[in-house]
Amino acid sequence: MVASDSVVVILAAGQGTRLKSSLAKVLHRAGGRTLVEHAVLACQPLRAKKTIVVVGHQAEQVAAVVEPLGAETVLQKPQRGTGHALAVARRAIGGGAKFVLVLPGDAPLVRAETLRALLETHRAANAAATILSAVVENPAGYGRIVRRSATTVAAVVEDSQLTDEQRVINEINSSIYCFTLESLWPALAQLKPNNVHRELYLTDGIAFLAAKGQTVLAQLAADAQEVLGCNTRAELAACDRALRERKRAALMDAGVTIELPDTVLIDPDVQIGQDTVIEPCVQLLGNTRIGARCTVRTGSVLADVTLGDSVTVEPHCVAASSRLDDHAVIGPFTRLRPGTHLKREAHLGNFVEAKKSVIGEGTKAMHLSYLGDARIGSKANIGAGTITCNYDGFHKYPTTIGSRAFVGSDSTLVSPVRIGDGAYVAAGSTITDNVPAGALGIGRGRQVNKPGWAAAKRRAMAAAEKPQKTRPRRKPKPRRPARRASQKIRSPKRRR
Ligand code: UD1
Ligand code: MG
Repeated sequence: MVASDSVVVILAAGQGTRLKSSLAKVLHRAGGRTLVEHAVLACQPLRAKKTIVVVGHQAEQVAAVVEPLGAETVLQKPQRGTGHALAVARRAIGGGAKFVLVLPGDAPLVRAETLRALLETHRAANAAATILSAVVENPAGYGRIVRRSATTVAAVVEDSQLTDEQRVINEINSSIYCFTLESLWPALAQLKPNNVHRELYLTDGIAFLAAKGQTVLAQLAADAQEVLGCNTRAELAACDRALRERKRAALMDAGVTIELPDTVLIDPDVQIGQDTVIEPCVQLLGNTRIGARCTVRTGSVLADVTLGDSVTVEPHCVAASSRLDDHAVIGPFTRLRPGTHLKREAHLGNFVEAKKSVIGEGTKAMHLSYLGDARIGSKANIGAGTITCNYDGFHKYPTTIGSRAFVGSDSTLVSPVRIGDGAYVAAGSTITDNVPAGALGIGRGRQVNKPGWAAAKRRAMAAAEKPQKTRPRRKPKPRRPARRASQKIRSPKRRR
C-alpha cells in the first residue's frame, strides 16, 4: 500500500532533559542507530508523500542524520511543546495530503506494519484522530488514554496532570497518531500552555476534538513494547536491549547459530550466512558481512568487516574495515586494521597486527608480527616476530614479499623494500635492500665462535672472587670512665 494521501511528521526538536546529556535526545543510539533514524526508517515502507522531521535542539546534527534518508527538516525555535512542533510543520505539509502520521523521535521500536495498520484504521473509520496506544504494567511518565467507549477516546491526560482515579489507567499514549489534516489545524490553533512546563501539548488537541464530537480512536499496539519511549538512560538501555534481541532473533530464524545470545551484540545492518556460528561475547558492528559456515569465536569484535565462506575468527580478534576470503583464519588475538585483505586460506595467528596489507592465498604469519602497507604473494611464510618498518617518522612506505618467500623469524624489513618470489630472509636480519627472487638475504652481524672461551672466563671470574688476605684487627682501647659530676675539675694550667 502506498500512502500517497499522507505525510509523515516526526517530532525531534526537543532537548531531552531527562537524559542529562549534552547530546540531543534523538541523536542518542539504541540498537546501533540514532533514535531519529529508527523513526524515519520505520516510516519508509509506507511510501508517504513526504517525511518531515521537526528539528530544533542541535538542529544541524539531526538534519545531517535524516536528510540523507530522504526526509526534509523544519526548524522549531524555540521549542514550545509537541503541539507547537506539529504546527510549525504546517507549511511544509502543504495542501496535497489528507492525513498526517505523527511520530515522536524517541520511540525506536515501532514497526512499519503497526504504522500501516494505524493508518488503515484511521482511514476506514473516517476519524479525526487515531492514537496508537498500549496497555503496560508500569504506565508512570506516560500520558494516559481516557476512554469514552470501548473504541473511542475522550482525552489524553499527561502524567503530571492525572487525578487519583486516572492514575490507575494503564493504557498509555504512544505519541504516535494519525490526524485528518482539516480537523487537526483548528485543534492546534486553540492549544494553551496550561501546564507546569508552559508548553503547547499536542495531547490537549485530542480532548478538543473529542469535545467537538469528532471521532477519536485509540488502537492498541499488538506488542506493547513497540511504543516504549526513551526519556531516560534506563529506558534507552531497555530499547537498545529489545532492538538487539530482535536482530539476533531474525538472524537465528535465518539459520545462524548464536551461542548465549544475550551476550552477543550485532548492529542492524550486519548480514550473516547460514550455518555460521557466533560464540558468546562477540560484537559485530557497522556493515559487517559474514558468509556461510563461518565461526566467529568468543571475544572478537568485527567492525565493517567482510568474511567469505568458512572463515574462522579465533577468540579475541579485533578487526576493522578488512576483508577475509573463503577459508581464511585469524587469531587468537589478531588485530586487523583498515584496508587489510586476507586471500583464500591465508592465516594470521596470535599477536599479529596487519594494516592496509594484502596477504596472499595460503600465506601464513602465525606469531607476533607487524605487517603494515605490505603486499604478500601466495604461500609465503612470514616467521615469528617479523616486522615491516613502514614508517620513517614522515612517510609510509610499502613492503613487497613474493609468492613462496620465506622470511625467517625476528626479521625487520625496512621499507620500501622488495623480497622476490621464492627468496629467503635469514632469521634475525635487518633487510634494507631488495632481495632478488630465489636469493637468500642475510642482514646481520656474522657469528664468531671462540673455542675454550667459556672455561677461561669462568677461571677469571673465580679468581676475581677469591677472598683477600686481611690484617688482624687491633684490640680496642678501654674507654675512659665518664667523669662524675662531684669530681673536681682541675683548672687549666696557667700560661706563663
Ligand atoms: C509525550 C506525550 C505523552 C506520551 C509520550 C510517549 C505530550 C505532551 N506528551 O510525552 O502523552 O505518553 O510522549 O512517549 O505530547 N518535541 C519537539 N518539540 C517540542 C517538544 C518535544 O519536537 O517542543 C519532540 C521531542 O524531541 C520528542 C517528542 O516530541 O521526540 C516527544 O516529546 P517528549 O518530551 O519526549 O514527550 P514525553 O514527555 O515523552
Ligand atoms: Mg518522550
